[in-house]
Amino acid sequence: MIDIHSHILPNLDDGASSLEDALSMAKQAEEQGIYLMVATPHHQNGRYTNQKTDIEQEVKRFNTFLNEQGVNLNVAPGQEVRLYGDIIQDYEQQHILTLNQSSYLLVELPSDHVPAYTSRILYDLQLAGVQPIIAHPERNREIIQHPDKLYELVKQGALAQLTASSITGRFGKAIKKFSEQLIEHQLVHIIASDTHNTTTRPNDLRAAFGTIEKTFDINTVYYYQENAETLVYGETVFAEPPTQMKKKKFLGIF
Ligand SMILES: [Fe+2]
Repeated sequence: MIDIHSHILPNLDDGASSLEDALSMAKQAEEQGIYLMVATPHHQNGRYTNQKTDIEQEVKRFNTFLNEQGVNLNVAPGQEVRLYGDIIQDYEQQHILTLNQSSYLLVELPSDHVPAYTSRILYDLQLAGVQPIIAHPERNREIIQHPDKLYELVKQGALAQLTASSITGRFGKAIKKFSEQLIEHQLVHIIASDTHNTTTRPNDLRAAFGTIEKTFDINTVYYYQENAETLVYGETVFAEPPTQMKKKKFLGIF
């Protein structure tokens, strides 16, 4: 399996806090059958800035280390970039790192709302040749309350990534239910772990596919697994046409 969202590189953000931790995360991934993992340190989220060249260097160093340790996992460079006003300018100046040098960029929204400029920036990114992937929309308060916000962004060409732990229920029943609805309405295109450590934010990717197979079917699992593969090898991800979700009240999440 391929995992396109992880905080495995040590000491860059709120993910692995030592080389030892990062090694445990790599082993946890390997145990699940993950052979390629994109490292996506936070960038421009108000707490962390991780420049492209630094990440590329860390990935090289970490892959050498994994090889020495006999871990059968390859790490590829990426970034989880918070949406910000100068993102396109910074991309053009080569400060932004897409996923494994593809045209796909993992974009994070603030957790409580969808900024007014989101639709314009995601559209402009596409004009600049970048395909935005919205990270974990199921955890955004405004999207939970107004799923139409996500529908509009997806209709305009954005993709969305659901976090494995959301569908397995680690973040609670309401997020799990909402995640199922996003899958039903074809509003998400990729499943990834977004793992930060091996304990509180472990790699749930294999469990997530188990849940998806049980709740939906094996073809849904293949759809997501193929999309992750297509994406990291730089080909075009297949997006099923999204359908609109009725606005619902999700009590008890916030
Ligand atoms: Fe993340």
